[in-house]
Amino acid sequence: MKIIKQKKELRSEIEVLKASGKTIGFVPTMGALHNGHKSLVERAVAENDICVVSVFVNPTQFNNPTDLEKYPRNLKRDAEFLEKIGCRIIFSPEPPEIYLPDELDSRFEFDFGGLDTVMEGKFRPGHFNGVVQIVSKLFQLVQPDKAYFGEKDFQQLAIIHRMVAVMNLQVEIVDCPIVREASGLALSSRNERLNEDERKKAVEISKVLSESRNFAPQLSPIELTQWVVEQINSRPGLEVEYYEIVNTSTLQPVYSWSAASVGCIAVYCGEVRLIDNIRYKTIEN
Ligand code: PAF
Repeated sequence: MKIIKQKKELRSEIEVLKASGKTIGFVPTMGALHNGHKSLVERAVAENDICVVSVFVNPTQFNNPTDLEKYPRNLKRDAEFLEKIGCRIIFSPEPPEIYLPDELDSRFEFDFGGLDTVMEGKFRPGHFNGVVQIVSKLFQLVQPDKAYFGEKDFQQLAIIHRMVAVMNLQVEIVDCPIVREASGLALSSRNERLNEDERKKAVEISKVLSESRNFAPQLSPIELTQWVVEQINSRPGLEVEYYEIVNTSTLQPVYSWSAASVGCIAVYCGEVRLIDNIRYKTIEN
């Protein structure tokens, strides 16, 4: 496995792979890898000749400087983890290798077609501009045949699909299911920042979401939203930032169960912001 830090070196590796007709599966990450990433990498390894993983904590997608500063970083550990599961190239540049100085100050603009007006987009202004900015740059460099993203970041995934369509990119986006601990807690790099007590509390998020599915036909989406928020906020140490039940394609709020819908949540567990989501069954009126 190679660890590459320079764009130039990555480009020449990719050129050789492309010239010999190898297919490339790509998993973009910000490091602090866990079994959720493992499932993406294993799939990329199984479905392509070569698996490339990027490990880059992207400054332009953080709107909270403390969050950026505290984001866990450990390339040595990530590299050991990736080597064991068949990754062939890690691309882990420093920010100046990726961004011109003025790109870090000015806002990259993308037409999200409304996908960014809800949920994460509402609470983390500019976040998805940063995501599209970095993922489009990484796609240009890695030129993957397939790229793998987790459904835990449901809104990000919808935006990546739009980005590929709008920019006419020649890459297939593969949606991968959320990986959970046995307790139900969705795996996340941020879980590393939870202490033992907070970890127990965080488990309640997936429990409440899962229970909410039992009420979906009787309660309307608005009533169910209220129920979820009340349930989670009643648990000490948890505070809901948002819970929205939205159409899986447009990400706009739904008012009945007749369209495919997903409930997306962001919750503060102490100082750690966690996200999760759950799909609801479609019920014809
Ligand atoms: O999901 C993430 O870890 C990041 O948003 C991504 C896609 C690697 C872009 O920095």
